[in-house]
Amino acid sequence: MSIRSKRDLEGLRMAGRIVRLALDAMQAHVRPGVTTNALNAIGAEVLARHGARSAPMLVYNCPAEILISVNDEIVHGLPSDRVIQEGDLVKLDVTVEKNGYMADAAVTVVVGPASEEKHALAACARRAFEAALKAARHGNRVYEIGRAVEREVRRSGFHVVSGLAGHGIGRSIHEEPSVPNEFDRRARQRLTEGLVITIEPMISAGTSEIVQDDDGWTIRTADGSLAAHYEHTLVITRSEPMLLTA
Ligand code: CO
Repeated sequence: MSIRSKRDLEGLRMAGRIVRLALDAMQAHVRPGVTTNALNAIGAEVLARHGARSAPMLVYNCPAEILISVNDEIVHGLPSDRVIQEGDLVKLDVTVEKNGYMADAAVTVVVGPASEEKHALAACARRAFEAALKAARHGNRVYEIGRAVEREVRRSGFHVVSGLAGHGIGRSIHEEPSVPNEFDRRARQRLTEGLVITIEPMISAGTSEIVQDDDGWTIRTADGSLAAHYEHTLVITRSEPMLLTA
């Protein structure tokens, strides 16, 4: 969506704030011994307390409130009785709906002690996001975001995963435009003031190829290599974007 009123901005800010609170609450509990079900329950409680709903549940009938992906799982992992171990890369991805507005953010948590490569991969996803943020300006083309992500990821020796992208958001989860994480000539649309999008580098330490599990949700790297994800929802302006989920 594109913001048309003060009410739109306030509604989105509220959704974004709840996303942040849920992510922070879950992140504080990521440690060896905790199950992904328990993390989901912590996030779900934050949503309920603020009168918000899980957007994936609402829009896609997702069986869990929060999507939690571990190690080679990139996105859309379903919480389970899986127990988090030392060295795990845990990706928490929260999308909420509040009063008809939606916001989406994700973070990769490195469960220490962990290898340098794992720390580097998680840090790279975040750095790629920050590089892309500089390209996210009124008047630029959408593909400039992907170009910035791709450059940063390549420089670090990692790979952007294929077939997954950021997206417009606001009234539903996945709106136009698609915001690819690599240079894509088709993403020629201009970014315009007020446009609400996610920027979300999804990267792999190995292959770019992805596979989906039989559960119809979990998306992982085809070769089992580690993956990281970092995401915020933001509003395009004529200067720096406004982060709604920071
Ligand atoms: Co997203």
